[in-house]
Amino acid sequence: MSLQELIDALRTSFIQELSTTISVKDLDSLKTKYLGKKGSVQSLMAELKNCSPDERPHLGKIINDLKEEITSHCENSLVRLQNEEIESRLTKEAIDPTLPGIKQNLGRIHPIQQMMDKIVDILNGMGFSVLTGPDVDTEYYNFEGLNFAPDHPARDMQDTFYLENDLLLRTHTSNVQVHTMEKYKPPIRAIAPGRCFRNEDISARSHVFFHQIEGFYIDKDVTFADLMSTMEEFLSKLLGEKVITRFRPSYFPFVEPGMEVDVRCTSCKGSGCRICKHTGWLEILGAGMIHPNVLKKGNIDPEEFSGFAWGMGIERIVILQSGIPDIRLFTQNDIRFLSQFT
Ligand code: DAH
Repeated sequence: MSLQELIDALRTSFIQELSTTISVKDLDSLKTKYLGKKGSVQSLMAELKNCSPDERPHLGKIINDLKEEITSHCENSLVRLQNEEIESRLTKEAIDPTLPGIKQNLGRIHPIQQMMDKIVDILNGMGFSVLTGPDVDTEYYNFEGLNFAPDHPARDMQDTFYLENDLLLRTHTSNVQVHTMEKYKPPIRAIAPGRCFRNEDISARSHVFFHQIEGFYIDKDVTFADLMSTMEEFLSKLLGEKVITRFRPSYFPFVEPGMEVDVRCTSCKGSGCRICKHTGWLEILGAGMIHPNVLKKGNIDPEEFSGFAWGMGIERIVILQSGIPDIRLFTQNDIRFLSQFT
């Protein structure tokens, strides 16, 4: 075959191969195959030395032209193939912006926790520090240290969950009182939010576990007037400026005197409704002056110091404020219920 024939054959085979090249990657190999240092065009150049000297310039130019031709084919094809590849990716990976999105459910703070946070916030602002637990405690801190008589009905198995080794699940957050007195010296101004447990039938109105906040203040010369004014201030911050309170004598073994604090029904303003069971009042909390026996259990001299304490249920406040018909809703994890509390 003459060199001219070789040149023509190479052109034909290039055009043929190019027509079946469908990716940028294949084009790259094709280019190397023809134009690379050890490529076909280069071998044609090497053939030149076998030609007669007068043919060389002419054939040399033809080979150079072929080289340019192949180069320009490759460049054009590159642009075309790149565009095709982008085009095909765009159709394959297309997104439809008119499709509805996937909704992300935002978590919320549980209504009980929201109320605890609110109460803790208010009482922090009034100088009370937060203490916690223990939820599992001894009979001593839950009952005896709080001046409960040995035969007090609350100590009954029917009311209290007893565990092994003299332990029980605390029935109220008041158990924190004697623990705290043993650890700190007055003045003590503390609150203890947390979970409590009672062995009761589960119904719309009661559950085996629920939440309380206990508060107490021990110092020199703490009086019943301090207790009343603290409750007034706290409840007006919690329920609104215009809340009307009523202090009713009551009995709890760990306070003397003891009382219950009611507020004018926030729903009917006192005229009587379902929420206040037509009494016009809502029972909100128990309180009193800490019994000298309790102070003594906590190694605090009742001759030198006095204090007040109060305790309130959290579920009850949320129920009253939101008109929730069933305490079980708090623990059923029903998104339809929980998402109503923003
Ligand atoms: N521990 C009481 C209960 O669970 C509530 C209570 C009443 C706490 C009077 C107090 C108090 O600190 O003084 O029903």
